[in-house]
Amino acid sequence: MTRLLVRDLRQLATPAGDHAPLRGSELGVVDVLEDAYVLCRDGVIEAVGRMQDLAPLDGEVEELEARGLCAVPGLVDCHTHACLAGDRVEEFSLRAAGAGYLELHEAGGGILATVRATRAAAEEELVELTLQHRDWMRAHGTTTFEVKSGYGLDRETELAQLRAIAAAGGVPTWLGAHALPPEHADADAYLDFLLAEVLPDAALLAVAADVFLERGAFDANQARRYLEACRAAGLALRLHGDQFTEAGAIPLAIELGATSVDHLEATGADGIGALAASVVSAVLLPASALFLDRPMPPARALVDAGAAVALATDFNPGSAFCESLPVVCSLAATQLRLAPAEALSACTVNAAFVLDRADRVGRLAPGYDADLVLLDASDWRYLAYHLAGPVVHTVIERGRVVHTA
Ligand code: NIG
Ligand code: FE
Repeated sequence: MTRLLVRDLRQLATPAGDHAPLRGSELGVVDVLEDAYVLCRDGVIEAVGRMQDLAPLDGEVEELEARGLCAVPGLVDCHTHACLAGDRVEEFSLRAAGAGYLELHEAGGGILATVRATRAAAEEELVELTLQHRDWMRAHGTTTFEVKSGYGLDRETELAQLRAIAAAGGVPTWLGAHALPPEHADADAYLDFLLAEVLPDAALLAVAADVFLERGAFDANQARRYLEACRAAGLALRLHGDQFTEAGAIPLAIELGATSVDHLEATGADGIGALAASVVSAVLLPASALFLDRPMPPARALVDAGAAVALATDFNPGSAFCESLPVVCSLAATQLRLAPAEALSACTVNAAFVLDRADRVGRLAPGYDADLVLLDASDWRYLAYHLAGPVVHTVIERGRVVHTA
């Protein structure tokens, strides 16, 4: 048995309640304890409370003196593309000079440039690269992360990506329907191949399937065929939807009982109302909107209408080369008009709900995994307030310190 006492915390902040997802006004309710402790046992939180109420502890207990630091739950990144080789710094420079993201994609660059580099990498390299990206995320407080495939688009590389993601500790999502690879003339023939040749094995490695429903990628009928087959194979369903255009992602997600629609930069009033009345989560990716200079998603309207809203980075080399959830929280507060408390709940408990682990991840409470971020700040809201600042001091995963600044 190993026990860790994180003691003398200036503050401990955690989403209130014990259910998920948090909707409407509940999203902004965060419990704050001053002068607090967290006691962990075998990777699980045993107790939290005020220092003045801490009873003497018997047996061996490792102590971490956290004077001046604030604890929040380990952050949960429920949407990344962190398994990839190469970069897109040339494309970034072209975009800075005015080239459009979808135009680069349609000209064979964009996602397909990363597909070429990822296909050329050995599986061990993909594991190493995903671990490197995991370390970048960790340094910003992320302790649970999802990663999509979608840079292979052939049987061998898609499956290698899913294995590499699991080996690096990520939650794997199969994004076979990300783009049309050059060896397939049309999207329907490519889907025939995916569903016959890749899905049976992908379903054993992934927990969810995802599709890029967009002009120049897959339309709603193609997305429906892909997702229905993936659902029949036991996978949860996610969609990249309404990133540039409203092309039917929200009605399709609701019809199929999907877990989430992600992006939503182009979503209008009807989509907001439909999502709010559904069980489908809205995963917002403001770093991607910023990186592509696109409109921000209608976060305030979604929360106020009662939708289940989560925040994620969308970390990838093309549309969001950003692994920092604290930066996403800053964007949420400055661009999405979410309070720091709403941003915290959206990238902890609500993001954990998207990954189907809100019963163990996303709160600082007894019985939850001992995943904590210690912030070097006088107030936990510096998480969103100190834009790109050095707020993350120590990261604890399953009761073990995995990063110190
Ligand atoms: O979520 N939009 C589709 N997919 C990713 C970007 C992938 C890439 O550009 O490599 C996204 O933005
Ligand atoms: Fe994405």
